Parts: sequence; structure tokens; C-alpha cells
Amino acid sequence: MGKRQQTDIKTLFEPNKLVKVCAPMVRYSKLQFRNLVKKYDCDLVFTPMILADSFCKSAKARSNEFTTNLLDTPLVAQFAANTIHDFVGASYLISPYCDGVDLNCGCPQGWAREQELGCQMLRNPQSIYALIRECRNQICKPFSVSVKMRLLKDLKKSVEICRQLERCGASFLSVHARTPECSVGPIDKHGLRAVVESVEIPVIGNGGVGSLENCIELQECAKVAGVMVANGILANPTLFSGTNVTPMRCVQDWLDICYNSTLGVQEYEKLCGSEQLSGAPAHIMRLFRGFLNNAKHNLKNNPVQETSKQLAIEINSNVFATISFEKVDENTYDLVHTTIPEELRGRGLGHIFAERIFDHLAGNGRKIKLTCEFLQEYFVKNRVKYSGLIIEDFETRAAP
Ligand SMILES: Cc1cc2nc3c(=O)[nH]c(=O)nc-3n(C[C@H](O)[C@H](O)[C@H](O)COP(=O)(O)O)c2cc1C
Repeated sequence: MGKRQQTDIKTLFEPNKLVKVCAPMVRYSKLQFRNLVKKYDCDLVFTPMILADSFCKSAKARSNEFTTNLLDTPLVAQFAANTIHDFVGASYLISPYCDGVDLNCGCPQGWAREQELGCQMLRNPQSIYALIRECRNQICKPFSVSVKMRLLKDLKKSVEICRQLERCGASFLSVHARTPECSVGPIDKHGLRAVVESVEIPVIGNGGVGSLENCIELQECAKVAGVMVANGILANPTLFSGTNVTPMRCVQDWLDICYNSTLGVQEYEKLCGSEQLSGAPAHIMRLFRGFLNNAKHNLKNNPVQETSKQLAIEINSNVFATISFEKVDENTYDLVHTTIPEELRGRGLGHIFAERIFDHLAGNGRKIKLTCEFLQEYFVKNRVKYSGLIIEDFETRAAP
């Protein structure tokens, strides 16, 4: 590996700029996914939460939990820790390979609470301050030291904690604007704004964002310096570049990144999904479902384009479903062959396409002959609707 370029995360927070952040996500925000979202306008990425104590103790834990490459910057490594020893030790070990560390003070899961980690630490914020202060003292700037936390029911307490964290040297804060008791539903934008207005350091807002428009709305409403997205970017890794559904290009990029990285077969299957086809959600399926729904929507709504030899509908940018035809006479087309892009076959798009084309031709007073076997099958199933459209029933044609 060449020399890693270190990024000063503070320089990302320019006035009037929105910093777009991929959230820490256990199992998901691994190197390959971080590399993917960086291709699509994401400014800052987080590792999944790593348990600091095992990271300090075990070389195996370190290689299992953390991999990186030269594209993986600006990068923040997130730890779950509740002792100075673990947090500063893990931060020190990882510091040559990332641009900052973050302390998880938001995880609401039972196991984390039992171990006094995650959001449980907000009940005793003195311990958080000690960890942040010591880490800041031990690791030189510009390396960042930050905290990801949730709002508390008592907003005054949240504001006080954030002010103290600023005093302890936190470089920035990420605030999930929901309480530990509530992981779904609307976020508290006003609470978030109160935090933003109470500190000088940048605050990244998080929660319930599903599109670039949502990011901008949150920035305008809460005056945050950045927006962090988890579920939304899992469903559509190109979210920050302004697309509302995952384009096929991104699905291909994801497969390429996973394939070209140094993954073993099992790891590749875990990331790309074949292992999970039997049950658990597979990430690739999640991405593909978004793409498929978009393709169906486009096929139903985009105009039919007609050239001298082809009828086509655009399914995705520059991806078309096509039917080639030959003219029997000015008003009669012999539909010869139907093409659906390979990656979308067997998913019901052909029937939607056939219906659109038949309706288009019927609406324009055209007649058809059917050489294409796929369209013959479609016609047989919909004979009643389209009987007036056909000039010659292929089933009664004499066999050669
Ligand atoms: C699959 C998944 C894994 C997560 N893992 C982490 C994690 O490791 N550390 C963390 O601080 N938050 C974690 N979160 C919480 C998110 O970072 C984020 O705060 C939360 O999902 C709200 O953002 P969203 O509405 O954009 O999803 C995780 C969320 C999801 C969906």
C-alpha cells in the first residue's frame, strides 16, 4: 500500500457547504461500502462501531473489524468504549490508518446498555468527557476526536452535554435527533437546532433522511453543518448525488468493488448476497429492488420512442427495452424481436413492455404481425384485448 493521505476533517466544514456523511453501520459501512459511497458524492465515511476493548487486545479482532485502502479517506473509526484505556488505546492503534475517531454514545441495544456502552453513557456524561479529553490530549491534531449521540428527553441535558464535549476538545458532534427510547418516527429538528446553536463546533444531524432534498431541508431547518444518513444510503448509495433510486451503474459498481477487493468467497457472498437469498436481507437484493421498482415505473410511464426499425422505452438512463420491427406496409408492423436488458429479465418487465407497445400501436391505428415468440405468448394470454390489432394469427399460419 502507498502512503495514506491524511485528511483534516475540520477543513470539510466550510461555511455554506453541506457535509454529506455515511453513518457508522454495523455489518454495512465496511471498506467496500465506504469506497462505493465515496464514488457518489459522500464527503465523510464512518466505520461500523468497533468494540475498543477487543480491538486493543487482539490482532485477530483488529484484522476482522478493520480494513482500509488508499481511497478510504476522509474516514472516522467509531468505537464503543467506556474506559480511557480502551478508547485511547484503540484510537492510538488505528490513528495511522484513519482521520479521526468517534465515541459511540447512541447505541440503544440491550447488550450495549448492559455493558454501560452506547446511549447508556449519556446517563453518566462525566465518563464521556474523560474519554474525549484524554484522547484529545494523547493524539495530535488534525486527527479528529468526535462523539455520536442521541438527544435526551430533557433537551437542556443534551445541550449541556454538547457544550461540555466542546470544552473537552471534541472536534465535531453527530447527533441522531431521536431519543434512546424512540428509534423510528419523526426526528426532533428543533431539539437538533437548539444543540447547533449552543456550540461553536460543527454538528452533523442524523435521522430519517431519505434523499438529497431531505438533507437540504434538514440543513435549512436545523442549521447543521452536515447530514449523516444510514438507512437511506443503504437503500440507495447514490443518494448524495441526487438520485432518488439506485441506478444500475451503482449495483454494477458494488459488485465490481466487492469482486476486486481481497475478499474470500464467503465474505464476498456475505456482502453481495447469495448466501442470504434464502432469508436474511441481502444488501445486493435491497439495491436491486430499488433499481427494479424504478425500471417498472419508467416502463409504465416513459414515452414510446419510435424509429424506422425499432420501438423502445427508456428504462434507466440510456438503458432501453426494445422491439425491432419490419414494415409490412405503412400501417402494419411485423414485430420481430423483443429485447429486455439481461440483468432485468425474468422479472415481469417484458409483459409491462408488451402491453405498452401493443397499446401504443393500437392507439395509433396500426396493425401487427407477430414473428417474435415472446410477443406471441403475450398475445395468446391477452387475445381478447388485442384481437383487432393482429393481421394474421400466427397460430393458424401454415407450418413450413
Ligand atoms: C444496519 C445499521 C447499523 C447501524 N450501526 C451503527 C453503528 O455501528 N454505530 C452507530 O453509531 N450507529 C449505528 N446505526 C445507527 C445509524 O448510524 C443512525 O444513527 C440511525 O440509523 C438513524 O439514521 P437513519 O434514519 O438515517 O437510518 C446503525 C443503523 C443501521 C440501520
